[in-house]
Amino acid sequence: MRIIDLIEKKRDGNELSTDEINWFITAYTADHIPDYQVSALLMAILFRGMNRRETVDLTRAIAYSGDQLDLHDVAPFVVDKHSSGGVGDKTTLVVQPLVAACGIPVGKMSGRGLGSSGGTLDKMESINGWHFEMSLEQFKRQLGNIGLVLSGQTTELAPADGKLYALRDVTGTVASMPLIAASIMSKKLAAGADAIVLDVKSGSGAFMHTVAEARQLARIMVDIGKDAGRKTVALISDMNQPLGHAIGNALEVREAIATLHGDGPHSFWEHCLDVAGYMLLLADKASTLAAAKAQVTAVRDQGLAWQKFRDMVAAQGGDVAQIDNPNTLPTARCVEPISAPQTGTLAAMDTTAIGWACVRLGGGRMSKSDQIDHAVGFVLPAKIGNHFQAGETMGFIHANDPDKLNQARSEILAALTWSDTPVEPLPHIYDVVT
Ligand code: URA
Repeated sequence: MRIIDLIEKKRDGNELSTDEINWFITAYTADHIPDYQVSALLMAILFRGMNRRETVDLTRAIAYSGDQLDLHDVAPFVVDKHSSGGVGDKTTLVVQPLVAACGIPVGKMSGRGLGSSGGTLDKMESINGWHFEMSLEQFKRQLGNIGLVLSGQTTELAPADGKLYALRDVTGTVASMPLIAASIMSKKLAAGADAIVLDVKSGSGAFMHTVAEARQLARIMVDIGKDAGRKTVALISDMNQPLGHAIGNALEVREAIATLHGDGPHSFWEHCLDVAGYMLLLADKASTLAAAKAQVTAVRDQGLAWQKFRDMVAAQGGDVAQIDNPNTLPTARCVEPISAPQTGTLAAMDTTAIGWACVRLGGGRMSKSDQIDHAVGFVLPAKIGNHFQAGETMGFIHANDPDKLNQARSEILAALTWSDTPVEPLPHIYDVVT
């Protein structure tokens, strides 16, 4: 087969066969196809889409590009969660230890930043020494020992996703439903979880802008999970504004730590409670969502979830003293307020633009080789429906370069829409797809 034929076929709106998809993923994983041709194919997929059969084939091909983890010799039932990507989304950092502290092993393979959306691995690397590379043996050992693992794509697990993910990040090919579904579900299938809670984001900061699109993405991922014998549920959650207050790597780690201590933003905690609650339900640890949330709240209040987070950081080489004193996490040189440009009610936010403002500040990558500045970002407690007086502080910019700081301020202000009349606050969950 020749990649040029596949590119032209998809460019012209035709279906790729199962054999073609398998060949493409095998050849790319073995470095037999250059990035520039794969970029062209990804762009063709983004514009032309893939039908259900092609999406399922792509998911399976990526999942089988490496090994399959069977975790049952170390844990009888393992749960996992995954978000479709958003701005300020540090949910994994809080939910994983909460669920592990309830006695349910959580083994998770996360990703780096993707386009305007932050990545869990980049956030965790704000902690000195913390690393996600591990052999499958280490993954299992840690899951057995502390019930909590946060790894990344490896050369063993879904290696094709690692390569495609990095390429999509810098080629404008992230926001494609089949590519997102295959990326997420291939990792979930390869990592061997018995139950999966998907957090599918919808809104101005998500790759799916409407609830209808998010529901479609959720449906296909839930079906792929079920076909593979995994209990799968998708929550459709709001991403019309950043999640929580912090946006940017070390700032988000600080907010996650505060949340594990019971001091995080209320709306973010509510979101974590829902995701963790559904994970408990799938693991049959509670019979109602309310009972599940009560268990989750109890392990936070008893400090058990914080202890799990510490254990995971220590097991993966991180500096525990630094998370015990979050002021020692990377800190930006310039911190300046963002003032409301007018009196009025915040009516809408272009959350993708806020995500890109953070990337341009240094918090993400514009090209594959960029180094991340973990210290920079925003603390933006302002939410849709909040009323401000002109000049009132809405949040803060953390930057290491005054020019970039000023640019970020203009970008954030340009991302806000104001109203003279009251605006209803947004729900944080729109639907649950089972
Ligand atoms: N998360 C992933 O792992 N992949 C995507 O494509 C989007 C979000």
